[in-house]
Amino acid sequence: MEVDWSKIMKPYPTRSITLPNGDEMIVKSMTKDEIEEVADALISNLTYHKDLFDLVTSEMITEFYLWRENRPMWGCPAESHFNLVGRVNGKVVGVTNGVLKDPKTGCSLHTTTLIRGLQIGAYLWPCKLEHYFDVLGIERLEASAESAIGGRKLFATYGFTVMPFPEYRSHFGTQLQVMTKQQWDRIKAGKLAGERI
Ligand SMILES: CC(C)(COP(=O)(O)OP(=O)(O)OC[C@H]1O[C@@H](n2cnc3c(N)ncnc32)[C@H](O)[C@@H]1OP(=O)(O)O)[C@@H](O)C(=O)NCCC(=O)NCCS
Repeated sequence: MEVDWSKIMKPYPTRSITLPNGDEMIVKSMTKDEIEEVADALISNLTYHKDLFDLVTSEMITEFYLWRENRPMWGCPAESHFNLVGRVNGKVVGVTNGVLKDPKTGCSLHTTTLIRGLQIGAYLWPCKLEHYFDVLGIERLEASAESAIGGRKLFATYGFTVMPFPEYRSHFGTQLQVMTKQQWDRIKAGKLAGERI
C-alpha cells in the first residue's frame, strides 16, 4: 500500500508537565535540525550500563541518524519516525521515539531520561501514547519492554497486553505487547499529566 506520510505525520501539541521537584518540563516534537543537539545531549547515557541505558540510547541515536538519512528502521518507513523531547529550561532531560508500520499500527521504539528519580520517563511515555492514538490516529500499538525497569515502570502499570504466544515477537525480537485505542481511552485520564500549551 502506497502511503503519503506527509498527510499522516503531525507535530505533537506542546505539553507542559510539572515534575516532582517543581521544574516545568516542556514536551515537543523534535525537528530534523535538532537531531545532532539531542544526540549530543544523550551521549552520557552511552556509558551508563545500569538498566540498559547504554543499549537503549545507542539504538535511539542510530534511529535519529537513520531518520536524518531517510532510511527505514526495523522495517518501518523513515517518514513515519517521530521523537518527543522533554526539556527543562531548554535543556534536554528525556526523549521518547516511535515509528509506524502502517497508518493504523504503531511500533514503539524507546524512552530514556537524563535525570533519574523525577519520573521523567514515566511522564514522557503517555505523551507518546497520546501522540500515537490521539494525534496520529493509530488503532493498535506494538511494543516490547527492552529492560526490566522499562517493563515495570512503563508496561505493567499501563495494562499492555502480553501476547499469549511466545512466538509473537516485536520488531526488536522480544516478547510482543500490545495496546489498543480502546485501552488508551480507558487509562489516559489517569496517566497523561500536565496540559497542552
Ligand atoms: C525506564 C525509564 C525511561 C523510566 O524513567 P523514569 O520514569 O524517569 O524513572 P527513573 O529512571 O528515574 O527510575 C526511577 C526508579 O529507578 C530506581 N532508581 C535506580 N537508580 C536510581 C537513581 N540514581 N535515582 C533515582 N532512582 C533510581 C528507583 O527505585 C526508582 O523507582 P520508582 O520510580 O518506583 O521510585 C528509565 O529508567 C530509563 O531510561 N531506563 C533505561 C532505558 C530503558 O529501559 N528504557 C525503557 C525501555 S522499555
